[in-house]
Amino acid sequence: MEMEKLVSLCKRRGFLFQSSEIYGGLNGFWDYGPLGVELKRNIKEAWWRDMVTGHDDLAPPPGAPEAYEMVGLDCTIIMHPQVWKCSGHFDLFVDKMVDCRESKKRYRYDQVPGRWVEAKGQKIFVTTAVEEHHEADLESRALKFFNLRAKDAGDLAWEGPVVSLAKIDPALYEKALGPDAKALGTLTAPRDFNLMFKTFVGALSGEEGAAYLRPETAQGIFVNFKNVCDSTRVRVPFGIAQMGKSFRNEITPRNFTFRSREFEQMEIEFFCHPKSSPQWYQYWRDRRMKWYTDLGLAGERLKLREHDKDELSHYSCGTSDIEYAFPFLPPGEFGELEGIAHRGDFDLRSHMEGKLVAKDGQLVVEQGPDGKPKWKGSGKDLSYRDDLTNERFVPHVIEPSAGADRGTLAFLCEAYHEDQAPDEKGEMQTRVVMKLHPRIAPLKAAVFPLVKKDGMPEVAQRIYRAIKPHMPVFYDEKGAVGRRYRRQDEAGTPYCITVDGQTLTDGTVTVRDRDSLKQDRVHESELVAVLRERIG
Ligand code: GAP
Repeated sequence: MEMEKLVSLCKRRGFLFQSSEIYGGLNGFWDYGPLGVELKRNIKEAWWRDMVTGHDDLAPPPGAPEAYEMVGLDCTIIMHPQVWKCSGHFDLFVDKMVDCRESKKRYRYDQVPGRWVEAKGQKIFVTTAVEEHHEADLESRALKFFNLRAKDAGDLAWEGPVVSLAKIDPALYEKALGPDAKALGTLTAPRDFNLMFKTFVGALSGEEGAAYLRPETAQGIFVNFKNVCDSTRVRVPFGIAQMGKSFRNEITPRNFTFRSREFEQMEIEFFCHPKSSPQWYQYWRDRRMKWYTDLGLAGERLKLREHDKDELSHYSCGTSDIEYAFPFLPPGEFGELEGIAHRGDFDLRSHMEGKLVAKDGQLVVEQGPDGKPKWKGSGKDLSYRDDLTNERFVPHVIEPSAGADRGTLAFLCEAYHEDQAPDEKGEMQTRVVMKLHPRIAPLKAAVFPLVKKDGMPEVAQRIYRAIKPHMPVFYDEKGAVGRRYRRQDEAGTPYCITVDGQTLTDGTVTVRDRDSLKQDRVHESELVAVLRERIG
């Protein structure tokens, strides 16, 4: 599937719009239209229901070491700045970026592809801003730089593969041709760029009033661990779930909503005994993978990838990513949908003791130049006492952290299909159909009168009103019925109900299945039950 087709359908049918589009848009920000908002809500609601409200606290689910409890939380986007100092985000949540003195543009240096090339006795590292088919753009930029014509492409002597700028020694940047530059040596040395959005609380505009929009929802859970333990009767093992907006000032937002600057996360922090944490890590990896497959992400496009040891954070005993082969990625490449990390006791200890660093294989509080903790923790006791065994310990954490927008994008990509279906005249036409799982489809059914006369609209409206209290349903009487079917196929509506001449005599309507295109007759009085059963 070409991504352009999905992007165009999303705009045409009201799934996704560029933010502030009438003013030219704002890079990295997206709005959900009338269909998109329902789709994303359904995905978030499915997550909340499957992980929290629908979870059986009393019996171990398949694969779980024992029964566990799940509760929810909704905390603020702006939190005490010390949260981000102890969590490490203030010091370490950075991307390396380079600036171009000529084009005045800024790039994430690990996302600038380039290649060494020699011609006319000069060797340069030519780079590109093009996201796909780098080779063609690198060649045309190199030809232009060396003042060669396309027919002289053979005069370019390429050296080594395409690599990112991150692999090049900054001392050699004087030989680099920036992605949008005409001259060599315009790129600055890489610098740290903190991804947190800074803001000011109250009337204080100096550092005193500085605060940050949260770059993840997770820290709100850790800082409320004690509150949840004290105010509920949860016992370890248990999980706290939270969904909500997060903000990251990404240097190069790209690929539709995949890397945005404002997005929603769905995160669980699962607190368990250190001894059983490896089993819980395995459980959550499998549980989360199953959640996506149950909702229709299946086959070769979804995979669970265990991180190599050298990819792990210093405190992590294991991390896996659930990845999807998004169509905008080169063949064979996958993009992260969700990370499942074993985080040990890093987070709770950081918020007790202060920002931690690894030293000789141990986590210790980082010291400032004065020998005191660089960033002081809360000093509050965030350990847990097991009232049955009397054991006191700092729970270990398993963190399944998903992106609601990336999930929505993956479900949209997976749903997009083109097939052949007959039009009103029986001629085969290409049909665009969004095969969304009925549970997440924005509309569950649409009701049409076959024609706008003979009392059919009145019956169809009655049916529409009877279904509406039970599920989202759409009424449409405008245009040829074939056209109306096509619109609902593009919206991903699983069932279309049509009132025709026979309805007026025997009370039955046709129910058309979006995917199989099969139609069967159902009595008006049984419609809600039949739809409920089919939607599941
Ligand atoms: N608390 C852990 C954490 O935030 P992460 O891998 O940085 O981990 C988790 O983010 C998930 O959030 C990702 O798997 C992705 O789905 C989503 N996410 C992260 N950055 C994003 C961005 N810029 N745009 C859209 N989604 C993003």
